[in-house]
Amino acid sequence: MKNEALIHDGTVSFKGVWKDFGGVPVLRGIDLDIASGEILALLGQSGSGKTTLLRCVNGLEVIQKGTIEVGGELIQDSAKGKNSLSSDIAQIRQSIGIVFQQFNLFPHMTVMENICVAQIKVLGRSEEIARDRARSLLDRVGLLEKAESRPLQLSGGQQQRVAIARTLAMDPRVLLLDEVTSSLDPQMTNDVLRVIGDVAKDGITLIVVTHEMGFARHVANRAVFMHEGVVAEDAPAKELFENPQNENTKKFLAAVLSHQ
Ligand SMILES: Nc1ncnc2c1ncn2[C@@H]1O[C@H](COP(=O)(O)OP(=O)(O)O)[C@@H](O)[C@H]1O
Ligand SMILES: [Mg+2]
Repeated sequence: MKNEALIHDGTVSFKGVWKDFGGVPVLRGIDLDIASGEILALLGQSGSGKTTLLRCVNGLEVIQKGTIEVGGELIQDSAKGKNSLSSDIAQIRQSIGIVFQQFNLFPHMTVMENICVAQIKVLGRSEEIARDRARSLLDRVGLLEKAESRPLQLSGGQQQRVAIARTLAMDPRVLLLDEVTSSLDPQMTNDVLRVIGDVAKDGITLIVVTHEMGFARHVANRAVFMHEGVVAEDAPAKELFENPQNENTKKFLAAVLSHQ
């Protein structure tokens, strides 16, 4: 695989995107342009299509209609037929990091090995350079002393911080975070949110699905509310939280905030 990235910025553009599962539409005409370096909070009830939208961005799901561009590269184009994915998908994917609610670390590897393996195998970095990068990222997420531990020796919040460090080690232009704190207790959630808030200053594009409304409001510069597979509201984060326009956004915010 070639070493250089195909993607040169962090723009993400959805045009008329439709996605169904077995004939049931889940994304119903998504049009969304995200600028490089934007911090976007993606909100919506369970089942509204948030995870599916993120998975489409790095080609884990194939769309049936429309196009998705990342960094000016057409990552999916339904005009290509049944398989809409770019033939360069593997290479493009190197520039798009995704972290899920489940940490998905390799359990048999140390923390250090977890962060180095793709740097060496996919990016072709030397072990020395990969380890240097891993150390600096572990320091950044506050876990340098855990480099030789195995994932199961760590708390959930520590594992999630390692998962974020592992993704950052690949130098993504776009980072997709899907409810990364949903299985964590409040203290661990705060530790992970602090790391994400710090990453948000790096200038990479962040699309964050979260139920942490305080975090979304303060860290995101834009908020999108999805409802039944469409973008129901799209506004500067502060505006969406303080003065939601859509009835479903209002209901959602009232329900979520009453639980916090
Ligand atoms: N692999 C799949 N097969 C069938 N249906 C799916 C699949 N993934 C998601 N769905 C359905 O798509 C809808 C949107 O799901 P999802 O994108 O996970 O929403 P959210 O992340 O907002 O909760 C849901 O109705 C869900 O059941
Ligand atoms: Mg989801």
